[in-house]
Amino acid sequence: MRSIQFNQFGEPNLVLALVELPMPVPGPGEVRLRLTHRPINPSDLETVRGRYGRLPQLPAIPGLEGMGLVDALGEGVASVAIGQRIIPLGVQGGTWAEYALAPATRLMPVPDRVTDQSAAQFLANPVTAWVMLVDELALQPGDWLLQTAAGSTLGRLVIQLARLKGYKTINLVRRREQVQELLDLGGDVVLATEDEDVVAQVRQATGGKGVNGVIEAVGGTTGALAFSCLRSGGTMIVYGMLSHEPIPLHSGEALFKGLTVKGYWLTHWLRSENPLKVLQVLQELMGLMVTGHLIPPVAAEYDLGQFREAVAHAERRGRSGKVILTG
Ligand SMILES: NC(=O)c1ccc[n+]([C@@H]2O[C@H](COP(=O)([O-])OP(=O)(O)OC[C@H]3O[C@@H](n4cnc5c(N)ncnc54)[C@H](OP(=O)(O)O)[C@@H]3O)[C@@H](O)[C@H]2O)c1
Repeated sequence: MRSIQFNQFGEPNLVLALVELPMPVPGPGEVRLRLTHRPINPSDLETVRGRYGRLPQLPAIPGLEGMGLVDALGEGVASVAIGQRIIPLGVQGGTWAEYALAPATRLMPVPDRVTDQSAAQFLANPVTAWVMLVDELALQPGDWLLQTAAGSTLGRLVIQLARLKGYKTINLVRRREQVQELLDLGGDVVLATEDEDVVAQVRQATGGKGVNGVIEAVGGTTGALAFSCLRSGGTMIVYGMLSHEPIPLHSGEALFKGLTVKGYWLTHWLRSENPLKVLQVLQELMGLMVTGHLIPPVAAEYDLGQFREAVAHAERRGRSGKVILTG
């Protein structure tokens, strides 16, 4: 089978290669999937660079998530049928390969009305957006949320979820050209970090109070700016490190406004959360995809063999959705 592989950590264009690997054979309780669609997520590329929270043993296949068809059943598996469209909640190795093995107990069937492209990006961004807003910040209808990197795939899902749940969003982007695009998507306020008096504008939009919660993925001065927009007692969730810069937090603000900063990592949540709760969140999100309320945007598709072009596109500024590897 064709697969992307890396033998050492480093820049993706230097260390990733297209290789032929033996077809995996499902053991008891396992399913072999013919993967057809996988997104290129920032965490995939950070893993290849060797700077993510959990690193694989080398050689390794990149890719956290994807979608495919059931191709072969291991002994004792009767819960899925050959040819069925499936999202694996984790595979052995990575998803940037034609085939992968997954435990039969960790498969999510894809309803007909959900496209392959949406199914392939079901796990990382929708779940993270939902858990941060609904559980971690426990936002209520009418509450104000501020997010950084708002033009990201996750940021666009946050805008969709917020509209559905009645939260109001202030969206920070680094490029002014993105402002109108995110207003058109339904963001209540969209500000460019490059040339706005962000804190004053946030105060004005929120009746002088500041926002109830922040979700922050950039770091550095953008993270500090977002933190300054919190109202007393507010919470900022750090869930990304796009700039790799530390956030210079203002001690006085944290102290006198009683602010909280905490991290959120999907890997940890999936491992530590009650499995019934995980199932409930996944089912709710799948329901929103079926009804068309939650649609992850797609920027482009490339065959596995064009992985270099695909990765370059995924790292280019100014995309309006996810780059997907097919084939
Ligand atoms: N903690 C978790 O469990 C978890 C789960 C899922 C995702 N995430 C994180 O969520 C973030 C978004 O993921 P995604 O898949 O939605 O990303 P994506 O679609 O690839 O978009 C990345 C976005 O980040 C912006 N960006 C990149 N570097 C930046 C910088 N230095 N300053 C400001 N903006 C910057 C880009 O802006 P331009 O449009 O200007 O290029 C783009 O809008 C990532 O950090 C990812 O790791 C975390």
